[in-house]
Amino acid sequence: MAEHPAYPVGLRLTGRKVVVLGGGQVAQRRLPALMAAGADVLLVSPAATPSVEAMADTGEITWERRPYREGDLEDAWYALIATSDPEANARASAEGERHRVWCVRSDDADAATAWTPATGHSEGVTVAVLTTNAKGRDPRHTAAVRDAVVEGLRDGTLVAPHYRTRTPGVALVGGGPGDPDLITVRGRRLLAEADVVIADRLGPRDLLAELPPHVEVIDAAKIPYGRFMAQEAINNALIEHAKQGRSVVRLKGGDPYVFGRGMEELHALAEAGIPCTVVPGISSSISVPGAAGIPVTHRGVAHEFTVVSGHVAPDDERSLIDWPALARLTGTLVILMGVDKIGRIAETLMAHGKSPETPVALVQEGTTAAQRRVDATLATVAEVVVAEDVKPPAVIVVGEVVAVGPKPLA
Ligand SMILES: C[S@@+](CC[C@H](N)C(=O)[O-])C[C@H]1O[C@@H](n2cnc3c(N)ncnc32)[C@H](O)[C@@H]1O
Repeated sequence: MAEHPAYPVGLRLTGRKVVVLGGGQVAQRRLPALMAAGADVLLVSPAATPSVEAMADTGEITWERRPYREGDLEDAWYALIATSDPEANARASAEGERHRVWCVRSDDADAATAWTPATGHSEGVTVAVLTTNAKGRDPRHTAAVRDAVVEGLRDGTLVAPHYRTRTPGVALVGGGPGDPDLITVRGRRLLAEADVVIADRLGPRDLLAELPPHVEVIDAAKIPYGRFMAQEAINNALIEHAKQGRSVVRLKGGDPYVFGRGMEELHALAEAGIPCTVVPGISSSISVPGAAGIPVTHRGVAHEFTVVSGHVAPDDERSLIDWPALARLTGTLVILMGVDKIGRIAETLMAHGKSPETPVALVQEGTTAAQRRVDATLATVAEVVVAEDVKPPAVIVVGEVVAVGPKPLA
């Protein structure tokens, strides 16, 4: 008999019975997608992996602890046959054929009436890849095709414009600490779809070079602001471009809401009636120490971490920080924008009881090719910053976590 290609289709399984025979690795891999599709899953298997068992415990699936028996597929819409017993699989397959239930077989693709495609998702579309026919089956190739398409859509190297859902407006995108790989998938996609990008000095600036030539890239630091404050000028630029019907990305370093003025921009846009979406980012406060081998918490060492801004000195009347309280904390203190004031900050912490021996690390330009880490103690940090010429941007970590990483190889 000639072999025809498989006919691709999307099954809408909400509330429909799907029978899974066998509770091993195959079921473990396939069940999440069946549950996500809203299927009413009955698992029939004497045993199951701990993950599958957990799905039954939480009531996401129904589990009958027994082997397959004739009649199990009677009222099913779809079945996944994956027991470790080939003879039971063959009997179940035959039953599926009789009841016209499409059956996937984990042990024998030739005998199956349905195949599971390699699937992936990217913002509103499901990519499903099937081998054309059984002879050409090469699951690793289908998975590679799926990965190429999904990754391409995610990172913007494969551009597929949205025709229905793309609305003008502003996306406040947290770009992460600087390494272009550390932006979120959603941020990267919005960047690939933007008409205008208004970018900060910090964040993944390398990504700007990859944007297509029609995209207008505006350096936020260079927006002329005349009689306005810089932030107002940025807000106005966002509003003006969005009003012209363009998709605007406001690309920020780290997370938009961590010392990022994200909410100020959101308010300004809301007042102007401009739709705005906020995409979280990986904040430098956690990722930059991590990139330099410093965990902000560590079992038995630090049970809390506090992130503060050091842009004004402790005795400055504009400071909102209770430095004496911070000096009493036993956990980790992460200071952003603190290079200039670190001497005064260290003095204040020591004056309120923090040990002068407390380890301190300064991580400059974390996650970029220029990253460097300089170590000190509270007693020495002011001198070390000058001697080592530490410059912003840097994240300063104060606490015993600085010393818990493995020693560098000699
Ligand atoms: C205005 S704050 C913005 C923080 C950002 N929203 C975040 O979540 O990471 C700027 C400060 O973040 C820190 N910073 C941001 N990116 C950094 C990086 N790659 N390396 C070191 N410090 C960084 C520095 O302390 C810098 O002065």
